Amino acid sequence: MGQNGRIRNAALLAKVTSAEHAASLIASGSTVGMSGFTGSGYPKAVPLALARRIEAARERGTPFRVCVWTGASTGPELDGALARADGISLRLPYNSDPVARERINRGEMDYADLHLSQVAPMAWQGFLGELDTAVIEISGIRPDGSLVPSSSVGNNKTWLDRARQVILEVNRWQSAALEGMHDIYYGTALPPHRVPIPLLRPEDRIGEPTFRCDPDKIVAIVETDSPDRNLPFAAPDDVARSIAGHLLEFLRHEVARGRLPDSLLPIQSGVGNVANAVLSGLLHGPFEGLTAYTEVIQDGMLDLLAAGKLRVASATAFSLSPAAATRLNAEMALFRDRMILRPQEISNHPEVVRRLGCIAMNGLIEADIYGNVNSTHVMGSRIQNGIGGSGDFARNAFLSIFLTPSTAKGGTISAIVPQVSHVDHIAQDVHVLVTEQGLADLRGLSPKQRADLILARCAHPDYRPLLEDYYARARRGAYGLHAPSLPGEALSWHQRFMEQGSMRPAGNRS
Ligand code: COA
Repeated sequence: MGQNGRIRNAALLAKVTSAEHAASLIASGSTVGMSGFTGSGYPKAVPLALARRIEAARERGTPFRVCVWTGASTGPELDGALARADGISLRLPYNSDPVARERINRGEMDYADLHLSQVAPMAWQGFLGELDTAVIEISGIRPDGSLVPSSSVGNNKTWLDRARQVILEVNRWQSAALEGMHDIYYGTALPPHRVPIPLLRPEDRIGEPTFRCDPDKIVAIVETDSPDRNLPFAAPDDVARSIAGHLLEFLRHEVARGRLPDSLLPIQSGVGNVANAVLSGLLHGPFEGLTAYTEVIQDGMLDLLAAGKLRVASATAFSLSPAAATRLNAEMALFRDRMILRPQEISNHPEVVRRLGCIAMNGLIEADIYGNVNSTHVMGSRIQNGIGGSGDFARNAFLSIFLTPSTAKGGTISAIVPQVSHVDHIAQDVHVLVTEQGLADLRGLSPKQRADLILARCAHPDYRPLLEDYYARARRGAYGLHAPSLPGEALSWHQRFMEQGSMRPAGNRS
């Protein structure tokens, strides 16, 4: 016990215990606020022990479940293990774990999919209910008892403040050089006591490097030495490279027109194949002195930092492939002064995103011919992941860009449809839409002008004639010609997919 050298406070060292004992302190039916954001900084031992306890209780005929709050997605040792044990009654605010997703879509687990910036303020408002236990991964404890965060900050500050009892996991795998990199802001309050967030540039530090925590609330400390478990990224394919190419050309054009500065504006980038292709395009592009004010720092941002193209990156978490995580841990000294991790209510704060003028770049499931975007629900009812921070950024960005391949599932689905089956981002929050086919700059356009552009620039040629036919008939429909639609037919593409396995009409499957 106390062997990992990261606990520098004698009183807290005495609280080191096993994961099993820590998990035994979590009451059946209680609410647990866990750390973790996009596969980083989640507790890796206590949730596994809790899942084992739930499974053992099931064998005895007394199964129980807990309500789980996190920052965003976590890892297989948390969401995967607890969902497999059927141990979660309600999960919030974001999930990408396949086992949990399946349970949610089978109706066996409730899921509240929330804007990530709003979770901490909601917890303070109180309508989410009491928080019984916080289980938080940290990278160390200072002699004064303050807690050094690990590879994500997420909602940890709020969970530590709100929970009745606290369990800590001190993970030695996390680089000791993380200390000093975080910026924990303690100035948030609920109305009518709210004050402006004093953050004027992505590099501004407005808080403290560590979490405060009442030592009397800490009931157990578990030592771990386990990696964050993010998946490797696929190398960008031709489609992702084409999407990135259209976007970079557009940004060059905006700079040439004087609508963006040479160093662009702070970038927010979602994760995944396409986002990575955009970041690697920026690596070889003309822009210098870039900044990022974003949710997660991913592989491509490390490359941009290492190349000197990116001056500073502010986020709430890392979201790195195993290779990039190893590189970061080995070369932390090279990066740490140019990276800041903050609570997610600050990294995604609408006021700050609007003030800085972020360029938001996010993925989507489908967009309709008017530019409404569905980011979350496949065929209108199956949750894929959740809205995450896309709403925080898209609504408030200087430039809100959505990126997607024009088809999904081997071409059987068109990502451009007559009407989205679920709306996350209304057309007003979608300034630019990009597919491998081209880019539609929708700013300032009427619905019909947007439809003309999206059909011409973004739709896949296999589906463009079908979309044009629908749109032409809708324009003759004459009920309302502001945003023409055929209500009875608008969602028929989704129905066709569910009935026939393709959005293409029967007899048109080439
Ligand atoms: N219809 C049905 N399924 C679709 C689809 C469509 N129109 N478009 C994508 N999919 C499926 C893919 O086939 C894939 O399924 P699989 O995992 O079974 O292969 C899955 O959705 C993910 O799609 P993928 O092509 O891998 O894209 P991605 O990794 O870029 O993810 C989103 C796209 C929309 C799921 C993802 O961007 C997301 O979760 N967004 C919401 C949160 C967000 O924007 N966060 C960033 C804010 S900081």
